[in-house]
Parts: sequence; C-alpha cells; structure tokens
Amino acid sequence: MTFKVCVIGAAGGIGQPLSLLLKRNNNITQLSLYDVSQSLKGVAMDLSHIDSPTLVSYDCGEESSSIYKALQGARIVVILAGVTRKPGMTRDDIFTLNAGIIRKAAENIANACPEAMCCIVTNPVNSLVPVFIETLKSFNISECERRVFGVTKLDCSRANTFISEEKNIPLEGFQVPIVGGHSEKTIVPLFSKLTNCSLTQEETDRLFKKLRSAGSEIVEAKKGQGSATLSIADATARFVDSIITACTGKEVEEFCYVKTNLIKGVDYFATRVSLGPKGITKIHELGSLSEYEETAIKDCVKALQQNINTALEYTRIDR
Ligand code: LMR
Repeated sequence: MTFKVCVIGAAGGIGQPLSLLLKRNNNITQLSLYDVSQSLKGVAMDLSHIDSPTLVSYDCGEESSSIYKALQGARIVVILAGVTRKPGMTRDDIFTLNAGIIRKAAENIANACPEAMCCIVTNPVNSLVPVFIETLKSFNISECERRVFGVTKLDCSRANTFISEEKNIPLEGFQVPIVGGHSEKTIVPLFSKLTNCSLTQEETDRLFKKLRSAGSEIVEAKKGQGSATLSIADATARFVDSIITACTGKEVEEFCYVKTNLIKGVDYFATRVSLGPKGITKIHELGSLSEYEETAIKDCVKALQQNINTALEYTRIDR
C-alpha cells in the first residue's frame, strides 16, 4: 500500500527535523516536501541519502503547479509554513502574517487532495484552524472538520516531562490531559485527572504557569532566532504516526484542537479525540474537573472566543 505524506514548509526550522523523523517512519512510502524556498532542493537531497525505504520527493517555488504536484495523492498533509514570533510577541501577533498562508494552503488542498488528513502546526493554532476549515468549507469539501487537527501534542509532551521531573516519577504510563487551546490563556492541563500522583495547590499553580509560558521561554532564549523546533517536530511526528495508525483501521486517541460544540460558547476546542481511517470518530467529554480547572476553562473560553472571532472575521472580509 502506498502512503504519501506531504510537509508544507519543509525547508524551515521545524520542517527539517520533522522531515528527518518522517523519513525514518517506514509506514510512509513517499515523503513529499514543499516549500517556497529553493533551498528545499538541498534539504531533499540531504534526506534522500538516509538509508530508509521512504522515497523523498520535493517541489518548491510559488507556482500553484508546484504545490499541486506536492499535494496530489497525499493522505496526510502537515502545515508548518509561516513566520514564527520574536521575543516579546504573542502567538496572536503573527495571525495577520500567517492567515493568508494557511488560507492558500487550504485552497490548494481543496483542489489537490480534499480527502487528506490535515495537521496544522503554524501559529496561532487557535485562529488558524478555523481559517483553514472555513476555507475548505467554501469549496464544499464534505465533513472536512473531521480531518483537520490543530497539533497541540507539544503541550502534552511538555506537561508529561514537567510532572515527571517535579514528582520524580518515570515518564512511562501516564499522560497529562491538556485541553482548551494553544496559547498562554488557553492551555489548560487537567492535573486532577492524574492517577499516579497528586499536586499541591502551589505545585498546580507553578506547573500551570510553567506550561503556559514554555513556548515563550524558548522564543526568549533563542533571542530572535525562532521558536521551538525540535520538540515540536518530535510531537508532530508522533501525531502523524497516530494518524497513520488510524488510517490502517486501528482506533487511536490523541489530544488536539478541533471543531466541536463540546464546550458552550466556542466552536473549537482542544480535547481528547478518537481517530479512525476517515478522521475523528469521537470527541470525548472532559468529565469531572476540579474547581481550579473549571475556572481555567471559563477564562480559556473567553480567550478562545476572541481567537475564533478574529479568524471568522478574516475569512468573511477576505472572501
Ligand atoms: C510553542 O509552544 O513552542 C510553539 O507554539 C511556538 C511558539 O511560538 O511558542
């Protein structure tokens, strides 16, 4: 069986390590790289020297025929293209710069591979997933919301790491549920769900803050040279692998940001979803929460409403 995965933005800071990890995934028969930058040729050559069976192809440049070729036949598309924030900026500050790129990617996907599963990594995820889905909907792509995921797995990865370090427990065998969105006001870890450890109020407060500011800390530490690239590439590669597993008919669960009416007041939310060969098969309820988490969700919903409204306004005006 052939399995083509396309990476849009493959020459960039996340694109390169992600493509490296995907080249090592033997379930991918063709790794199709796309970037506007001509330097992609060198990246593709470099990767193609790795002795793994995955075939590497590349298409670069602004012409629509290039991206069409890259996307045609893709079962999964990962979208990383766009600018990253600089120290002092929030993810929302790059919305205007990246919204057009995401809209264009959605238009190309609607034409070239409308059935593909689409993983959005470009920030701000909270607003760009709605831009992407609204664009697909304008092409009458049926049930597209089942196949579009904002990748929030890095938040889960960070939370697992921070808890493991804090409580000195091995990483295997637990998963911190992260819901809400992907920004300082919307990342909501559900620490109360952990069964193998409990946190004091002071620990909860501190880890909440640490998790929410983790992305900004990397941006500051990289001093204007970008944001997280390696940890996000790892989380995205693992997310892609889950989708591949789902495509083979085995149901898997992941946390990601999706279109849903799960929470009153917002049409998009990050939560646990079950995935099957055609995309989302179930969106899981949050279940019982602590008072602290209830309050955090309320604040998160207010911030998410703004992010989603920004996106909807953009798609209305820009049509
Ligand atoms: C992250 O969480 O590291 C990413 O969303 C990148 C960023 O701008 O923080």
